[in-house]
Amino acid sequence: MKIIVLDEVDSTNEYVKKNYHELPMCACVQAKKQISGKGRRGHVWSSNDQNLTVSFLYKDITNIMEAWKYTMISAASVIDLLKKYGIQAKIKWPNDIYVGDDKICGMLIETILDPDLKGIISGIGVNVNDARPYICMKDFLHKECDIKEVLANLIVSMNHYMDMYYRGQFDYILEKLNQSSYLKGKWIDYQNYGKISFLKVNERGMVEYIDEHDQIHQMLVNEITLSQK
Ligand code: BTN
Repeated sequence: MKIIVLDEVDSTNEYVKKNYHELPMCACVQAKKQISGKGRRGHVWSSNDQNLTVSFLYKDITNIMEAWKYTMISAASVIDLLKKYGIQAKIKWPNDIYVGDDKICGMLIETILDPDLKGIISGIGVNVNDARPYICMKDFLHKECDIKEVLANLIVSMNHYMDMYYRGQFDYILEKLNQSSYLKGKWIDYQNYGKISFLKVNERGMVEYIDEHDQIHQMLVNEITLSQK
């Protein structure tokens, strides 16, 4: 995997989008400082050199219906990364990684359509040494972490789960994430659906949820929009 380290950029996702022609099939772009990073639904994710902001590019994707799987691969990778440091994390569907009840990492998965599908970008922001506005790894380790080392560990995890995916073992990744779901067993008031509880994400990328009348329904995992807490 080609690794590019930038001193400063607007957004690593945007950088990858602009430069995907020149980048190899699989690349990783890290920025020490990201001045107008993008979050989901128009949120801003800026970051200084205390935290990890990185985008992975995969150009081998041919079917847009597979795009949601890259969110799962990224989430499993971040959970494993944090586990290496002794931090137990969970996924809050669809794009947040939580430790306890606080966010430590946000992900923004985007497709490159030019005009047809050219690649997928997995943008990951992990709070390493600066907790703002959430929590960071340092809060648990009580010492600074080396960002380079954190990135190296994340790359190992991403490669591991991408290999599994290529070998047709995506089911294992999904099962692992369903077991690490922050929302499992919790009842929430969700928009105009009333009280619901998310059960699991199935192999088609649909979240199965149950309502108060024990009826099971489905929605696309990427369509879930929840507040931060
Ligand atoms: C969110 O929590 O809303 C998602 C945040 C995603 C932030 C990462 S940081 C690296 C990559 N580049 C961006 O501009 N955004 C993502």
